[in-house]
This record gives sequence, C-alpha cells and structure tokens, in this order.
Amino acid sequence: MEAEIQKIIEEARQSIAASDRSSLIPSAAKFIGRQGSLTEILKSLGNLSIEERKRIGEQANQAKIAIEAMVTEREQKLSAAQQKQMMRRDVGLPGIPPVVGHLSPVTIVTRELISALTELGFEVAEGPEVELELYNFDMLNIPADHPARDQWDTFWVKQGKDGKNSTLLRTHTSPVQVRYMLQHQPPIRIISPGRTFRYEAENTSHSSVFNQFEGLMVDKGISVAHMKGVIDHFVKKILGSEVKARLRPSFFPFTEPSFEVDVWFNGQWLELMGCGMVHPQVLRNVNIDPSEYSGFAFGVGTERLAMLKYDIDDIRLFLSGDPRFVTQF
Ligand code: DAH
Repeated sequence: MEAEIQKIIEEARQSIAASDRSSLIPSAAKFIGRQGSLTEILKSLGNLSIEERKRIGEQANQAKIAIEAMVTEREQKLSAAQQKQMMRRDVGLPGIPPVVGHLSPVTIVTRELISALTELGFEVAEGPEVELELYNFDMLNIPADHPARDQWDTFWVKQGKDGKNSTLLRTHTSPVQVRYMLQHQPPIRIISPGRTFRYEAENTSHSSVFNQFEGLMVDKGISVAHMKGVIDHFVKKILGSEVKARLRPSFFPFTEPSFEVDVWFNGQWLELMGCGMVHPQVLRNVNIDPSEYSGFAFGVGTERLAMLKYDIDDIRLFLSGDPRFVTQF
C-alpha cells in the first residue's frame, strides 16, 4: 500500500502539471475526488490492523494534503499566466494611434479651385492623359510645323499611320476644351483639373509630371472683363482676399488676345498663369460660330499655385513621396 500511495502521488504530480484551467479539477478528482484512487485507500483503512491503519492512514492523509497543495499551486500559476495575457490584450488601454493619410497640397488646391469655380456655375470636365496630337495641338490652332509647338516639349506615345492620329502624353489640359466643345454647344462653363506631362529637364520649378487646371467659358457677349472677374475671384479665394491680379499681354496660339496673369503676393508681382479670349479659329474648329459666340480660357499650374500658397520652393517635392513633406498640409 505504501508503494501504491507513492505511485498515486507521482501520477497526480504529472497529471496536475499537465492540466489547464478546465482540466485541473477533473485531474485532481481522479486521485482525491469521491471515487479517487487515494480516497479509495482511505476508505479501505478499516480493514487494516490498528497499527497499520495509523501508519498508512497518516501517509495517505499526507499524500492528500500534498496533492491538494499541487492543485492550489497549479491553479495560481495558471491564473497568473491568464492575467498576464489579459493585460497584454487590454482593449481598454489607449492604443498606438493609427497612421492616417494626408491630402497632397495639389489635391487641396485642386479642391479649393473646384469649389471657387463651381460656385460661379462651372462644371468639372475631364479628359484622357494619353491624348491625340489632334486635340493637344492641331485643333488648338497649333499646326505640326508651327514653331509654337516648341513651347510644349512632348512625350510622344505612338506615331499614327501617315502621320495621323499620333498619341502623346498631353502637355496641357487645353485639349479638354476641344473635346468638350465638340460635344456641347454654348453656353459652356467648364473647369478641368488633371495631370500633364512635359519632356524637359527637371529643376526646382520644372517637373516633367505636373498638374494643370483649365477653365473655359463660352457664351454670347463674353469679354475680357468676365475673364478678369472670374480670375480675381478664384485667386482671392485661394491666396487671400488682399491678393491682386493683373493681366499682361502674351501669346498663345489658341487665344487672341492672350495674357499672362501676375499676382501681387508677398510684396511682389509673380507670374501665375496664362489666359485669353478663345481664338475664333479654335471656335470654328469645333463648329461654334465666332460671330455669334465668344469665350475666354485660362490654364493654371496647380503646383505653382500650391507653391505660392504654402511657400514651397521646389516643385520636385510634390512627387518625392516624402512623408515629412505631405504631413505639413
Ligand atoms: N495651355 C497653356 C500652357 O500649358 C496654358 C493656357 C494658356 C491655357 C492660355 C489656356 C489659355 O486655356 O487660354 O501653357
């Protein structure tokens, strides 16, 4: 019997050590439960001589105490571990704040431009980035061998058959004017934000990938005064109500007369964008009668506007993907 008690202790030690919280009580019951092996021994003590009963009884009681202690110890160990685990997963603790995205300054300025012009009744119209040479140049009164094409260094995509239908990465958003006017008759009031491309060396003020924002209004009796009014409105909305704009004569093949817009900003005149009255030939190209209708158009570099607004000194930062840059806006 003594050997059996020793065996029970050993078995209990192994079984309890291998138990988790749910199996701990059933494991212990196998030994010290009502029908447990040790309990059976205690129950059978009555059959023994007084001396034996005393000795074995003593040993069996010791064994029972030892097994109970094992259970208590194991229970404590398991609950401490569980508590530690719960602490680690405490959903009530303040977490590490998630990294949130940021709007690019180009997006911010584009949205501001859209809101400044839609409140004047302009609608957004978009065109493709891979454009036909016809819409990017010819229809805008820039024929193939015209020196004005040199103003727009071009990424050519595909040479068309017999020199027709060649494709390119649009060098400006002006072809959207053509696309829209081919589909719609006046009155027309559209704005067209989008990405544009130039094959040119990059530096602090030139990037081969950048954004423009085109505006076009065509109706009866539209004059330079309307154009000036619209430009003043959005320049003040974006750069501040104290900012002044002025027109300076310039040249674009698709407008006549053409102007540059300068803005008085931080104590100096800065060139901002091109604009002008839509050239009668451009209107004829899209089947709008220039003796009945007139219109104005403008094209502003979105990065350039953002650079003025936020005092950014290098256009290449916009495409750098550097979080230290974008998180500032
Ligand atoms: N497309 C011109 C450029 O990229 C900008 C421009 C000038 C657009 C005059 C216009 C305009 O619509 O009327 O330089």
